[in-house]
Amino acid sequence: MTRKVFVSGASGALGGRIAGHLLDADVAVVAGARRLERIEPLRVRGAEARRFDYDDPTLMRIAFEGCDTAILIPTFAPVVDRVRQHFDALTAAREASVRKVVFASFLPATPESHFTVSPFMLFAEATVRQSGMAWAILRDGLYLDPLADWVPEIVSMGRIPYPAGEGRVAYVTRDDLAEAIAQAALSDAANGRLYRLTGPKAQGFVEIAGIISDVTGKPVLYDPMSEQDFARLCEEPEAPDYLPTALASLYRAVAAGEFDLVTDDIETLTGRAPEDVESYLKRKYG
Ligand SMILES: NC(=O)c1ccc[n+]([C@@H]2O[C@H](COP(=O)([O-])OP(=O)(O)OC[C@H]3O[C@@H](n4cnc5c(N)ncnc54)[C@H](OP(=O)(O)O)[C@@H]3O)[C@@H](O)[C@H]2O)c1
Repeated sequence: MTRKVFVSGASGALGGRIAGHLLDADVAVVAGARRLERIEPLRVRGAEARRFDYDDPTLMRIAFEGCDTAILIPTFAPVVDRVRQHFDALTAAREASVRKVVFASFLPATPESHFTVSPFMLFAEATVRQSGMAWAILRDGLYLDPLADWVPEIVSMGRIPYPAGEGRVAYVTRDDLAEAIAQAALSDAANGRLYRLTGPKAQGFVEIAGIISDVTGKPVLYDPMSEQDFARLCEEPEAPDYLPTALASLYRAVAAGEFDLVTDDIETLTGRAPEDVESYLKRKYG
């Protein structure tokens, strides 16, 4: 059967990459975004571009029309708004006769998590399982790309300031996540399965600081800030109010070991091992 796969958040860094992998595999892609101009590059590559807004149930139903699979990538909205967005998206998908839903969740989607957004992930995963559609859930590990983008500033500060204690993280690139999520959308063997998508090594920040020093030739130490100072550092005028404290809680989750996990789920889905921190940083800065 020819598949038509809907990708939400296609204007974003993860969704755009997922759509790219699907197009590489000659799959019919419907790319969804609030502003079509942001997905013009995907349209040029052959995707159908449709307007999609998690806050507009009617628009979502129209966007899902004719798609057998829908990949749902959550927004950055506060938890309660995300719950409504996700519930409405599943309702719209069912109404549009979507057969399979693929949800990009997050590794600390557990009741015990210190991350303040995890209750949304728990709700979202539970409703995906109960949706009546076929499903696959991908709990994404922590993105490596934003840390890598931050390296010039880390080098100028001479420190990694994350309030992460002795916690270790198996960082993973968006590229590896996107390819695995695209494969989970295409594979019937992924139906009814939950994957934990991690990088190949769990590393503490002393070790990561050492890698940054080696790659850039500049001295960098792990010198954690307090959670309060880190939350202040994360304040940005256009970011949602909840974000600074949510980010601080994310590093509390790191400190508690919630990202200290290595699986081979990416290799299971893509057939190749994910890239590690050193290799990625060398490609970017070496
Ligand atoms: N694993 C991790 O380490 C990690 C880190 C950060 C975030 N995340 C999660 O992963 C998601 C994707 O990450 P990313 O790197 O691709 O983020 P990103 O580049 O900022 O993309 C976010 C996407 O969400 C879309 N969006 C926002 N509000 C929307 C709405 N109301 N309706 C429809 N689409 C909406 C944006 O579309 P517009 O172009 O319309 O704005 C954009 O495409 C994030 O939204 C977040 O939930 C994961």
